[in-house]
Amino acid sequence: MNKHILVIGGASRGARYFIKNALNAGNNVTAVCRGNEYQSAAVRLESILALTTLTPKKELSGANVISGKLQVLSYNIQTAETYIKILTDYPDIDSIFSFIGPTRDTLFNRKIKLYTTTISAIVEGMRKSRYVEFYYHGSVGSEGVPGESSTKLPAHYPWYKNILLPILYPVFKDVTESENLLAKSKKDGLKFVIFRPDALTNEKAKRNFMYTFDHAIFNKPDFNLKTADKFISREDVAEEILRISTLPLNEREIYFGHAVYMVDKI
Ligand SMILES: NC(=O)c1ccc[n+]([C@@H]2O[C@H](COP(=O)([O-])OP(=O)(O)OC[C@H]3O[C@@H](n4cnc5c(N)ncnc54)[C@H](OP(=O)(O)O)[C@@H]3O)[C@@H](O)[C@H]2O)c1
Repeated sequence: MNKHILVIGGASRGARYFIKNALNAGNNVTAVCRGNEYQSAAVRLESILALTTLTPKKELSGANVISGKLQVLSYNIQTAETYIKILTDYPDIDSIFSFIGPTRDTLFNRKIKLYTTTISAIVEGMRKSRYVEFYYHGSVGSEGVPGESSTKLPAHYPWYKNILLPILYPVFKDVTESENLLAKSKKDGLKFVIFRPDALTNEKAKRNFMYTFDHAIFNKPDFNLKTADKFISREDVAEEILRISTLPLNEREIYFGHAVYMVDKI
């Protein structure tokens, strides 16, 4: 069944794969993205998509043929009014996907809490209009079941985690807090899935990743962290988010309320 989905952070390097794949699969996409000094949001996103090449899949002929409809909006993503307006204006939107992330200018600005501010606006907007499924491209750096997660790197990170974690701690902490904020709305009926990919690359999709729910630790019966790399491509993550969100309800609901750690197999 084709969907109408809302994508936040539409120009991000992951969202461009996601949007293109979603359109190719016949879904209608409303994307929120910023314009720049040269281009409106719509012109910017359309040119980004035109330059995005999908890695062909064996089962698909006609990749890169866009069949769904794309609409681009330029709204403030950090206010609840945006989500109230969009969810009211487009009653057929059935899910929201967030691909936002700090830009180079804001990464080390400790006052800017992009994740918590945006997630708080999304949750508040849904609470005041209607709840739809929410798929959150978050980050490695959080550990545990959403609602009880803490700021930690996966257990297989070697010595340099003691350097990496303090440097990126404010960003990771913001991610953790945003996850816990999201989990609070579970009781009100919000169905969400969080994705915690490991370090992202711009390589082609390898389709050779592994994943586990909530805890990236050793000694899990169904997941061997010893065979995990530290990287995964943006394209792989985007494909998996789309795949999970379009599974039949009885298959995708096992993901609801969980955080999915994703990483390439060695
Ligand atoms: N780098 C890694 O190794 C790594 C690993 C795991 C997870 N992650 C996380 O994964 C997510 C997606 O990553 P990515 O590399 O695809 O993202 P990205 O290319 O860095 O894009 C982030 C997007 O967020 C948008 N954004 C930031 N602040 C905004 C604001 N105030 N208002 C509106 N839009 C805003 C940016 O908009 P503009 O394009 O207009 O600037 C940009 O399109 C991010 O949360 C990232 O932190 C990263």
